[in-house]
Amino acid sequence: MSNQIILPRIMQVGENASLEIPTILGSLGCTRPLIITDKMMVELGYARQVQSCLEEHQITSEVFDNTVPEPTVSSIQAGVEAVRNGNYDSIIALGGGSPIDSAKAISILGKFGGEMRDYKFPRIVNEVGLPIIAVPTTAGTGTEVTRFTIITDETNDEKMLCVGVGFMPIAALVDYKLTLSLPARITADTGIDALTHAMEAYVSKKASPYSDSQAIAAMKLIGPNLRRVYHDGSDKKAREAMMLGSTLAGVAFSNASVALVHGMSRPIGAAFHVPHGLSNAMLLPAVTEFSIPSAVEKYADCARAIGVATQADSDEEANQKLMAELRALNDELQVPTPEQFGISRQQFFDLMPTMAEQALASGSPNNNPIVPTAEQIIDIYKQLW
Ligand SMILES: [Fe+2]
Repeated sequence: MSNQIILPRIMQVGENASLEIPTILGSLGCTRPLIITDKMMVELGYARQVQSCLEEHQITSEVFDNTVPEPTVSSIQAGVEAVRNGNYDSIIALGGGSPIDSAKAISILGKFGGEMRDYKFPRIVNEVGLPIIAVPTTAGTGTEVTRFTIITDETNDEKMLCVGVGFMPIAALVDYKLTLSLPARITADTGIDALTHAMEAYVSKKASPYSDSQAIAAMKLIGPNLRRVYHDGSDKKAREAMMLGSTLAGVAFSNASVALVHGMSRPIGAAFHVPHGLSNAMLLPAVTEFSIPSAVEKYADCARAIGVATQADSDEEANQKLMAELRALNDELQVPTPEQFGISRQQFFDLMPTMAEQALASGSPNNNPIVPTAEQIIDIYKQLW
């Protein structure tokens, strides 16, 4: 049996990787990029920095900065129009997960038209849109190296998962220096998201020896450094490790998929507007506890890779340590419960059956070591209270 691995054509990794944008555009034969980003990146001067870097190489660019967190069908519309009406030959996607996910959708819709809904899973989108050079500023969603995007249909709060090589950036520039000024909350949320990607890819039923190698490497980088970047954002060594770990976790889950945490997390995000990493963090301990009995060895490997257990520990001991670590991590990183986040208990409980249905429909729970029933999913949701 063999596994197909899909990666960006070019990866530029390390300090100042983002300064290589002009060289990479040149190597792709592109001269008319549209920078897709958000207002924060403009305010922080990151968009200007990219434009100046391009100008030094006689490349003029325009900026579309109207992307929003958790992008929706209507939020990407103006970007689609910009691509249709401009003569751009490439997109530079600059920012956290949302600008990059928006850019992926804009690239395909701008070139091929139609509605986002037409492109949602189970359709596999192999069309080639405008080439995307992804420059992440968080560590992170890993979206710079995945063949996925998620766009919310605001008419029914459905987070539409869209899949295919058409959503894979042609180049990923992974520069940890862009994360040095991230606030602690975003650092924690995106860092736990990356840890969740690595763990879910590793225990996924679609895991392969290739994705396992990337997932383990990611956990080794993220495990010892997540607390460090939360407490001291200027810790360059830790930021560098988190950035690479996030990208490797992205490679792992782009090729092995995610599982129950993400399946259950998307409905919470869509219904209650909880940031993606935060809803993952709320779920990670409970879902891991539920899943360990079906993948004892694999979760023990995770505990050892993260650095909370050693080879001397039995698998059972390692898994106890893993559970203790996930709970301690949420405490230390001040992950709120749904209640502390401000969600109404009544609304949450009323929505549980719908959320369980949406979780199952997303397909992600099918990759979990144990595939839960709707009742079991509801039980796990209840445990969050
Ligand atoms: Fe995620």
